Amino acid sequence: MEIVILPDNAAIGRLGADAVGNLLQRKPAAVLGLATGSSPLSIYDELATRSADGSVSFAKASGFTLDEYVGLPADHPESYRNVIDKDFVSRVDFASGAIQAPNALAEDIPAACAAYESAIAAAGGVDLQILGIGTDGHIGFNEPGSSLASRTRIKTLARQTRIDNARFFGGNLDAVPTHCLTQGLATIMAARHVVLVATGPGKAEAVHHLVEGAVSALWPATILQHHPHVTVLLDGAAASRLQLAGYYRETYRAKPAWQGI
Ligand code: F6R
Repeated sequence: MEIVILPDNAAIGRLGADAVGNLLQRKPAAVLGLATGSSPLSIYDELATRSADGSVSFAKASGFTLDEYVGLPADHPESYRNVIDKDFVSRVDFASGAIQAPNALAEDIPAACAAYESAIAAAGGVDLQILGIGTDGHIGFNEPGSSLASRTRIKTLARQTRIDNARFFGGNLDAVPTHCLTQGLATIMAARHVVLVATGPGKAEAVHHLVEGAVSALWPATILQHHPHVTVLLDGAAASRLQLAGYYRETYRAKPAWQGI
């Protein structure tokens, strides 16, 4: 796991965008895994800027979102399908139909989840998965207690997650759905490169477990310790509980340029 502690969101956005841009240069038809929420916004903003100036193109790329709320109508502004369109997809040059999301409106939810797994496999798997992390250590919406071997399925959102996300629903906890479809932990682990972003003091405990804690279903993100290629982009506040923060800073400063991101 590579831990990079950066001064601010803009620096996180640039490095995350470098990871995506380098991949697209090597593989223009890359498959991206797209998180929603606040954490990846700096990366999406930077990629939108680079797309506008022509330094990156998504014309041949495709993407899969991580998760979707159950119970929101298709036109709800907080449906993750609409959020990712607004925050990222509509701002770059993806071909139409290049982005897929789990179908939380399906009558047969298990079949929709299985179809999503098949679609990811048919696309050749995810090359680069962008992730945030919940204050309770979830990735995707794999809440504490999730099977470390899980695949896309329906989950009940933890109360803490609904409280955290009420800010997107006018502060009204009752408006936040209770269920979601989410890629499983094994689905996320199958991505070839994972770039996880965490900022702010509210993420410090989850980041401490992610990087330095014991691997446990209680902190689902800890499964990433078993992944061979994870890049964790943090600000100082999110890194504030890392015992080895000094070592991570030193390691990144001394990183040979040829290693890239
Ligand atoms: C979003 C997702 C979640 C968020 C996490 C952090 O698609 O899967 O795991 O990444 O809840 O959310 P923010 O970034 O809003 O703090």
